[in-house]
Amino acid sequence: MFQKGSLPASLPADPMPLFAEWLAYAREQKAQRNPDSMALATSTPDGQPAARIVLLKRLVADPGYVVFYTNYDSRKGREIAANPRVAGLVHWDAQGRQVRLEGRVVKSPAAESDEYFASRALDSRIGAWASLQSEPLSSRATLLRRVAEQAARFGTKVPRPPHWGGYRLWLDAVELWNEGAFRVHDRARWTRSLAPDGDAGFIAGPWAATRLYP
Ligand SMILES: Cc1cc2nc3c(=O)[nH]c(=O)nc-3n(C[C@H](O)[C@H](O)[C@H](O)COP(=O)(O)O)c2cc1C
Repeated sequence: MFQKGSLPASLPADPMPLFAEWLAYAREQKAQRNPDSMALATSTPDGQPAARIVLLKRLVADPGYVVFYTNYDSRKGREIAANPRVAGLVHWDAQGRQVRLEGRVVKSPAAESDEYFASRALDSRIGAWASLQSEPLSSRATLLRRVAEQAARFGTKVPRPPHWGGYRLWLDAVELWNEGAFRVHDRARWTRSLAPDGDAGFIAGPWAATRLYP
């Protein structure tokens, strides 16, 4: 089942098209329920890391960022506000592949978050209002009561909550890893600089590629 195909002998200048190809292939294969799940590691300013799964909803090869959605007031949201440097990891076990990501996070433009929020199922939109993600919850009944309250409050017209939206993870390091027989895996890392460019994101330098021992 897994791809024996290794990385090209001559590494491409930009890893993003190959990353996009691997993601599209994993989605197409349907060998796992959530081929776009990504472990996202954030950390506190004093260096305590924490990881959780989010869905990688969009990959923008040029200029090179991925998008995920969450509650801005959640633990990850608060950690990102204090330290926007994060790491991501996508693993496709059936394909024998992983992609490591490192970079810096900015909030998606509000209009883009609005558009994605509007595309979500009604129950998910109500859930975004009902859940105080990462806060202590006295009982499951309290959550169910909040869901019912928010459903009654909004009916079918549910606007995006101000505390919920997208993040763009701008990449300054990408590592593509392809499983090989007898642990002779194939692995390469691309890095580039990111210079802050206002709220919009970054001006990215060119990628530099290096093959690594597995
Ligand atoms: C397959 C899967 C996909 C998930 N996708 C998301 C997501 O896209 N956004 C999100 O906020 N939480 C998602 N979660 C829940 C998170 O893993 C996590 O429990 C939640 O965001 C709270 O994390 P925090 O307290 O560290 O902020 C997902 C969980 C799983 C298992």
